[in-house]
Amino acid sequence: MTVVAVVDDDGAGAAAAQQQEEVPPGRGQTVCVTGAAGYIASWLVKLLLERGYTVKGTVRNPDDPKNAHLKALDGAAERLVLCKADLLDYDAIRAAVDGCHGVFHTASPVTDDPEQMVEPAGGGGGAVRGTQHVIKAAAEAGAVRRVVFTSSIGAVTMDPNRGPDVVVDESCWSDLEFCKKTKNWYCYGKAVAEQAARRAAEERGVDLVVVNPVLVVGPLLQPTVNASAVHILKYLDGSARKYANAVQAYVDVRDVAAAHVRVFEEPAASGRYLCAERVLHREDVVHILAKLFPEYPVPTRCSDEVNPRKQPYKMSNKKLQDLGLQFIPVSDSLHETVKSLQLKGHLPVLGKEIPAAGLNGVTA
Ligand SMILES: NC(=O)c1ccc[n+]([C@@H]2O[C@H](COP(=O)([O-])OP(=O)(O)OC[C@H]3O[C@@H](n4cnc5c(N)ncnc54)[C@H](OP(=O)(O)O)[C@@H]3O)[C@@H](O)[C@H]2O)c1
Repeated sequence: MTVVAVVDDDGAGAAAAQQQEEVPPGRGQTVCVTGAAGYIASWLVKLLLERGYTVKGTVRNPDDPKNAHLKALDGAAERLVLCKADLLDYDAIRAAVDGCHGVFHTASPVTDDPEQMVEPAGGGGGAVRGTQHVIKAAAEAGAVRRVVFTSSIGAVTMDPNRGPDVVVDESCWSDLEFCKKTKNWYCYGKAVAEQAARRAAEERGVDLVVVNPVLVVGPLLQPTVNASAVHILKYLDGSARKYANAVQAYVDVRDVAAAHVRVFEEPAASGRYLCAERVLHREDVVHILAKLFPEYPVPTRCSDEVNPRKQPYKMSNKKLQDLGLQFIPVSDSLHETVKSLQLKGHLPVLGKEIPAAGLNGVTA
């Protein structure tokens, strides 16, 4: 009898432990995601819903059909609320953050228009002023335990004085004067917004963690084509006849969403997190695309036939790897970007598909 009793206890204990393990980490937690219908934010909302969170997603117009993909996500009917908010409208942001335990601030203009990115005299572009609004709202809402801010590689690498052997990591900052001189208002705005977020968070006692994604590729959930998808689309639809003599780091959108959630859920997370899989020259990108999708007019010539080939810089993603993130190889991400662009009708399907099994490990 004793033995049976022990077995019963153990069985019940194991079942209880298993049940405890199965409680989704986000159950009972409400989080706000700004710009919820954007490319990165859509994947973030999807992941948060899968993890049991209740999500208040801000969009400029909840009734816009371009948000339909969010409403169709698993769990959305029960746990997704779309809140109408422009980043420049503090009261709307404050209402969206109300009752939240966390905030993911991903909304930002993604443009080189200086008026949208940074202060026009005395005013304030969405990138910078919106960020200040989000930090202020998080501080005033009371229950927010962490704000995760989506910054960018644009706030990290635009530094003409960085030596070729420097490993780009979280300690690197873009040179604001250089961004201004080269009229790179997107990078300027993201760097200024990140600095403004850090300052505001410090002043108001808000726990802020920053994710700095590099150029984001991978499948689209939203119906529209975002700026980083255009970076790939232009090499397939004939609009780019040549590729640039330039290098760029890439990461999959699903890894970017996972990084946001990881740094939110890990109590010890702090500071910045570079989110990158690898650095490629544009020639490498077009080679991968041409191998995977030979049916498209992928450029074969570089627009710069004079200067030596730009060398990829070294970059560390160790901080995120230390949090357990394993990055999707860029060739897989590029494949899925193209399949997704086809599926959503942005790119005609021309046949000659390479079977998925043959794709792994395709490199330039
Ligand atoms: N994709 C990349 O390669 C990449 C790389 C590094 C960092 N990031 C950063 O990641 C974040 C998301 O970018 P994404 O690629 O997902 O771009 P996206 O699809 O264009 O998403 C941006 C979102 O911000 C919203 N937004 C812009 N201005 C706003 C305003 N004034 N008020 C309210 N909402 C506003 C947009 O809403 P509307 O649709 O209404 O305009 C959109 O939902 C941005 O902060 C971007 O800087 C992106």
